[in-house]
Amino acid sequence: MASDPSRNTYSSYLQLAQLLSAQKTSTKSDDELLFIVIHQSHELWFKLMIHELDCAIAALAPPAGSPPRSDSLLIAYKRLSRVSEVQELLISSWKVLRTLTPDEFHVFRDTVGRDGASGFQSIQYRVLEFKLGLKYRQIDMDAEKKSVFGNGGTEDDRVLEAALAGKSIYDAVNIYLGRHKKGYGIEDLHKGDYTQRYTKQLAVFRCWKDIYEDREEDPELYQLGEKLIDVEDAFRRWRLDHLSTVARIIGSNTGTGGSSGLRYLKGVANQLFETPMFPELWDVRNYMFNKGGFDEVRAGYATPSG
Ligand code: HEM
Repeated sequence: MASDPSRNTYSSYLQLAQLLSAQKTSTKSDDELLFIVIHQSHELWFKLMIHELDCAIAALAPPAGSPPRSDSLLIAYKRLSRVSEVQELLISSWKVLRTLTPDEFHVFRDTVGRDGASGFQSIQYRVLEFKLGLKYRQIDMDAEKKSVFGNGGTEDDRVLEAALAGKSIYDAVNIYLGRHKKGYGIEDLHKGDYTQRYTKQLAVFRCWKDIYEDREEDPELYQLGEKLIDVEDAFRRWRLDHLSTVARIIGSNTGTGGSSGLRYLKGVANQLFETPMFPELWDVRNYMFNKGGFDEVRAGYATPSG
């Protein structure tokens, strides 16, 4: 009996025919499938993380004209928790890739990377960075500046422009804190232009300092702070694990995307320790262990008077 094509089955609902025919190897290597699957699964999980972040952003900073809601924080926790669980999964997936040895990769690397293909070109990874507030239009690739955009006009560029122009999760948190009944005095310094990289604010630092010094006063905000730290901490660990996985597979050779390879990846892994995504939350840690010695001006905050 012929199957009814309009019937919803496991495979039709999940479009498995399409999904499972998208792993096309370019060589005869038995190890190339792993390479494709690990990249494709990353892209699927990136897609989910972007969606979850969008939901959290909309809950914390609803678009103008939408009715106020009382469950914003609840939604933000749930969404951010999901994001960090996905991050943990991606971090542990490096273990699978680490089973790929240099001799195995060597067989197909030149073929798959012949036109400069590299994770460096992942659009969703850049969108994710933008949603997390890492608004780099250009990346310092060794001595060169490389744009994350193409030459304009493509669908990829439109997607990137929209993500760059949108609020990041941290912008949304600051908008939420700015409207909090306690009136922490936090302003939305972007004034509607979210394309620029966030610069840290004294009012935001003082707000988190209060929250962390007395967590019983605002336990839900304390939890929000820790959720954000979970996300940034996992993002750092993903980069560090990518670096160490790459080191064991290709050593210190150059990347197919044109970078110096390990040297470049060490730089990006370090970057978040130098300039964090959520800077005030890290400054609170600096402050907590050195209260008397913490100087707001030296920590890079302009004081209200100047
Ligand atoms: C054998 C496995 C891998 C090797 C040897 C490798 C190597 C590299 C290298 C050398 C770079 C620097 C840019 C370049 O010159 O190409 C890079 C960047 C990148 N790779 Fe991988 N990679 C591997 C697996 C993966 C996987 C599974 C993903 C998941 C999507 C990934 C995502 C990225 C991303 C997003 C960047 C850009 C990082 C940034 O600019 O901050 N890589 N990779």
